[in-house]
Amino acid sequence: MGTSADGGATREPGAVSLMDPDVLRDPFVAYAAMRERAPLVRGVVFEGTPPIWLATRYEDVKTVLGDHRFVNNPASVPGMDVRSIRERMIEARGIPREYAPYLLDSVLDADGEDHIRLRRLVSRAFTARRVAELRPRVEEITEGLLDRLPGTAEDGVAELMEHFAYPLPITVICELVGIPEQERPRWRAWGKVLTDLKSDGVGAVLGDMIAYIHELIERRRAAPGGDLLTGLIRAHDEDGDRLGDIEMVTLVLTLVLAGHETTAHLIGNGTVALLTHPEQLALLRRDPALMPRAVHELLRWCGPVQATRLRYAAEDVEIGGMRVRKGEPVMALIAGGNHDPRAFGDPERLDITREPDGRKETHVGFGHGLHYCLGAALARQEGEVAFAALLRRFPGLSLAVDPDDLERQPVPGAWRLARLPLRI
Ligand code: HEM
Repeated sequence: MGTSADGGATREPGAVSLMDPDVLRDPFVAYAAMRERAPLVRGVVFEGTPPIWLATRYEDVKTVLGDHRFVNNPASVPGMDVRSIRERMIEARGIPREYAPYLLDSVLDADGEDHIRLRRLVSRAFTARRVAELRPRVEEITEGLLDRLPGTAEDGVAELMEHFAYPLPITVICELVGIPEQERPRWRAWGKVLTDLKSDGVGAVLGDMIAYIHELIERRRAAPGGDLLTGLIRAHDEDGDRLGDIEMVTLVLTLVLAGHETTAHLIGNGTVALLTHPEQLALLRRDPALMPRAVHELLRWCGPVQATRLRYAAEDVEIGGMRVRKGEPVMALIAGGNHDPRAFGDPERLDITREPDGRKETHVGFGHGLHYCLGAALARQEGEVAFAALLRRFPGLSLAVDPDDLERQPVPGAWRLARLPLRI
């Protein structure tokens, strides 16, 4: 773990950089080293910013995410003028200031009453019952995509990310929110630009997305539907105090962005994991009832989200004998927690029978505490449906390249494939 990849920005002896090419190539090795070094380690998480605290041990990750002394919005730290690292990152990426509220005032940035209010407005759409009702539609979308997959293949090799892993979740979330079918491809294109940290088109794309949602809200006002957006508009129009204009746009933006990239990479990473562990794959093929447990284990072993948003200490907090001072940011490396031998026996081993009960989870791949992933039930269901259909429809499925040659996106805190060529 060197300190040079970020141009020397670490400037602190011993600080790691999540942008270090070695860390990006195999973050799990880096997390293991940090975990053994200390409960909290100093590290640079965004280019050009100073080091912050990183938590990699399972119990400490849970403390950072579950203890009320940590808040998501630096403005919630009493009596302190904390300029959030994210604000600086937005500046560094050249995103126009006028878009900052849409990026800094989401449900993920809210604390206390604000957070409860925002979360309640959309949580109804994501309950276990609503998600179960969606299952037939998720299956239908899945089968449709897989019907078309062979037609996209060249010499028997199909690109799974492009033609299946991305389109499935974006279709599901757009349908749930109420984005018309013919307008969905542009969200996929926008998502691609946002994912690419080096892209300079980010500001323009954000402007397009925000303008699009404002315009869609006007269309839904004129012609209400049965979708989530219509529900939000109703809450807004009946009682503007409950949901402001910008908040409404931000919620939709958050759902679409949080709901598709993540799930796409659960499908991508999970497929690779199963294909490179033939004994686990055989077990799953023999007993499809193992699927819910398998998806939990895939989220633990190769979950797409490795780090959560930053948390800020609202007062001095002690973690494992180390002091986090009031106002200091901490990043919870959930992938580190998920591979912590203190919490999981033989953590590097993929074992789809590991979770004791298919509906109860111990991993922290969806986070923990008040900001626990709102879409967890939906994402797990999409994973279950996707893996089941893929394995059933393509019994001879295999990787078309050596697993060591699979290209990953160089995004700190995320575990994402750039491409996934499969022999179908
Ligand atoms: C929050 C992971 C899919 C919507 C989170 C958090 C994690 C996470 C780790 C907590 C972040 C933090 O505490 O800072 C994942 C993974 C997914 C996934 C691994 C797929 C495999 C989805 C989907 C949706 C969604 C499908 C919605 C359609 C959200 C929202 C939050 C959230 C709205 C913020 C909740 C809050 O702040 O109260 N997700 N997510 N996610 N997720 Fe997901």
